[in-house]
Amino acid sequence: MKKQTVVVIGLGYVGLPLAVRAKERGYNVIGIDLDKKKIDLINNQISPIEDSYLSKNLPKFPINATRDIKKIKKADIVLICVPTPVDKSFNPNLEYVRSACVMAVTNLKKGALVVLESTVNPGVSEEVVKPIFEEQNLKVGKNVFIAHCPERINPGDPKWDITNIPRVVGAFCDKGLKKAITFYESIVDGEIHPMKHIREAEACKIVENSFRDINIAFVNELAKSFDALHIDIKDVIDGASTKPFGFMPHYPSCGIGGHCIPVDPYYLIKRAKQAGFDHKFLRTSRKINNSMPEYTVESLRDKLNSIKMPINGTNIGLLGIAYKANVDDDRESPYYNIIKLLTKNGAKVHSFDPHIKEKSSVKTLTTLLKKSEALILVTDHGEFDIIDGKLLKEHDIKIIIDGKNILDKQDMKKNGIIYKGIGR
Ligand SMILES: NC(=O)c1ccc[n+]([C@@H]2O[C@H](COP(=O)([O-])OP(=O)(O)OC[C@H]3O[C@@H](n4cnc5c(N)ncnc54)[C@H](O)[C@@H]3O)[C@@H](O)[C@H]2O)c1
Repeated sequence: MKKQTVVVIGLGYVGLPLAVRAKERGYNVIGIDLDKKKIDLINNQISPIEDSYLSKNLPKFPINATRDIKKIKKADIVLICVPTPVDKSFNPNLEYVRSACVMAVTNLKKGALVVLESTVNPGVSEEVVKPIFEEQNLKVGKNVFIAHCPERINPGDPKWDITNIPRVVGAFCDKGLKKAITFYESIVDGEIHPMKHIREAEACKIVENSFRDINIAFVNELAKSFDALHIDIKDVIDGASTKPFGFMPHYPSCGIGGHCIPVDPYYLIKRAKQAGFDHKFLRTSRKINNSMPEYTVESLRDKLNSIKMPINGTNIGLLGIAYKANVDDDRESPYYNIIKLLTKNGAKVHSFDPHIKEKSSVKTLTTLLKKSEALILVTDHGEFDIIDGKLLKEHDIKIIIDGKNILDKQDMKKNGIIYKGIGR
């Protein structure tokens, strides 16, 4: 059989591993992005993002990256992996999806399969994507096939990656669904689950991430309550986790980040509102989770005040910029709200992230410790495992706010460091 050509539009955390995986599985692959720097790195087989699958496989299965959208003409399969952010008022921004669809439609070979992988609210494939193709007189289900296969990748996850995460797929017609399933079965070793309606495939992804948002909001609320009640939430979650059924641990923190969980629920909230439904539960969860950076800074203020120190003028060190452990992704990271609040209150802020050195104000952990009087641990990177009471005492650190509840509370106390976790 003739080798099929896959064109991936958007070579980020989602699109690049997908492109390399398609190449690994024998497809001709062309990657399209607007970012020249990214394209140059990829063409030199250097991954622009930290990802273990990519560092191992991009040099082995190099892909051809370009800004030339005319290359889409070669595609049998087009995969759209562009961002779907929200604006300052949390309104969905579908402009990247629109522009990628326009790029595809103006260069599309008849009969091609177009799959949207970006996370969108139920209805986007029907209300935004399909009309763009129909306006160019393409008949969906005849000379173009459109499907949606929401990406589930979890950057930094050592077990689940592009090769084995099961997928759901929806399409506008049986033939389109079959084409999409055949493609995903050829690149993914996990189950490919067909959905009856494309809208249901879109809804799956939003449900998955809203589920996490709601559960994390619940433990964040518990953290605030347990602080008032002097109960250690970490010990409680460890205890509750011994129940072998009906309980799933989630953990409180100084805030949720990344391009998914703090963003995706708004896509459903806003679309359901247009349809006359108010997602009270989701809105409350978002509000609780958005309040955590402020709660973290308030915890620091309380502890500083307890030893008669103000935030104003104090040297505060922030450990980590990334939104989660061992990745270089700082999108929507709670770091940004924390630093904003500290700066507004007059603190002298220093920061260090071993994965995002270019945005760190100091070059090493030791320099950060030397400059700081108090610390907030924002990210639980492996590089911070060496932090203990003895090390902080040596650097005359008075207070640490453990935004990820990973440090040994007793050890801190033993060394005379004022410790405060989130709910402990
Ligand atoms: N990052 C994750 O962990 C993750 C996981 C699952 C799903 N998603 C979803 O996948 C989608 C992509 O997310 P991401 O994290 O890969 O984003 P990203 O920002 O890492 O990558 C997107 C890429 O698309 C490029 N781009 C934007 N508009 C373009 C256009 N018109 N033509 C060509 N390239 C264009 C950007 O330059 C960028 O390189 C989003 O909808 C996101 O919600 C992300």
